[in-house]
Amino acid sequence: MSKNKPKLLVTGISGFLGSYLPIVNNNQWDIHGFYNHSPINPDAVAHTIGQQHQVSLIKTSKVNLLEPTEVKTALAAIQPDAILHLAAQSNPNYCEAHEAESHAINVAATLLLGEYAATASIPFVFVSSDLVFDGTKAPYSETDTPSPISVYGRHKVEAEQALLQVYPDACIARCPVMYGLPAWGNSFMSNWIKNLREEKPVYAFTDEYRTKVDGQTAVEGLFLLLRKHAKGVYHLGGKEKISRYDFAVKMAKAFGLQEDLVKPSLRADVKMPAARPADVSLLSDKAYALGYHPDGIDVTLARIKNFSLVE
Ligand SMILES: NC(=O)c1ccc[n+]([C@@H]2O[C@H](COP(=O)([O-])OP(=O)(O)OC[C@H]3O[C@@H](n4cnc5c(N)ncnc54)[C@H](OP(=O)(O)O)[C@@H]3O)[C@@H](O)[C@H]2O)c1
Repeated sequence: MSKNKPKLLVTGISGFLGSYLPIVNNNQWDIHGFYNHSPINPDAVAHTIGQQHQVSLIKTSKVNLLEPTEVKTALAAIQPDAILHLAAQSNPNYCEAHEAESHAINVAATLLLGEYAATASIPFVFVSSDLVFDGTKAPYSETDTPSPISVYGRHKVEAEQALLQVYPDACIARCPVMYGLPAWGNSFMSNWIKNLREEKPVYAFTDEYRTKVDGQTAVEGLFLLLRKHAKGVYHLGGKEKISRYDFAVKMAKAFGLQEDLVKPSLRADVKMPAARPADVSLLSDKAYALGYHPDGIDVTLARIKNFSLVE
């Protein structure tokens, strides 16, 4: 049965966004996922997200995207009908201190995959970020000129531009900060909930605004872009602009945790290697017109709370 479905290659299957693939796929694609250091344990995952049959249908292989020969061999064996490129070094502070490493995975690997997709003439969706903007002129639409203020943001812009040069039909999905309790991968929300459950304070910025969405909604948006054969740049922001602090308070409330343990702080209070833009809210009307419909944050948090089996 699965041989009739189109093959989707997903890089970064072992990351935060990759964890939502089994839930969102719903039998649309025959998924082949690449991981590097973190193999997925189908049994452990099945227990966490309650989707055993779908998780076990995902085929995974270890492919280091920094090794072109390895990548080309794997692509030739799979012959995907479409590629969703999630893999990245996604930590801006790490990128700031490891510029060459960031360039290799965030730019060079994207280009390598984009060149393959161009030659094969298949849909290619690359996940970029709201951090391509400097945060001084929000909200940002797809036609605003990028103005990154960190190595990570600069490398996302470089990857976007290089990709569109080698493959003008490629699609770039700029995602905002994403939340959720993923079945695997890192999540700031999981860490916050753990702290609040242990009655430890959570410090959150009152002066940093984003149009956040949850991981599942973002992956639904990415699947929509693939299904519609979208080309060019799309923003996949949520419909509400919210500060990190206000989000943390909403989250504590939704999970029945102590709201007064959420403490306000300012970006200037915390010294970090990468500069953090104040407000990179995204205007996402182009994606909304295509059928992307993020729910509000309260509704989404309630859904995550009900769905979560994690204690
Ligand atoms: N999470 C967010 O809030 C957010 C916001 C905006 C944009 N984005 C973008 O969305 C995409 C997905 O983010 P995410 O949060 O899911 O990232 P993540 O959790 O940090 O996962 C990164 C993934 O990339 C893989 N990877 C890294 N280096 C690799 C290599 N050399 N070869 C093969 N795979 C490699 C990792 O594999 P292993 O772990 O197996 O090594 C992992 O699966 C990224 O492009 C990120 O920049 C994320």
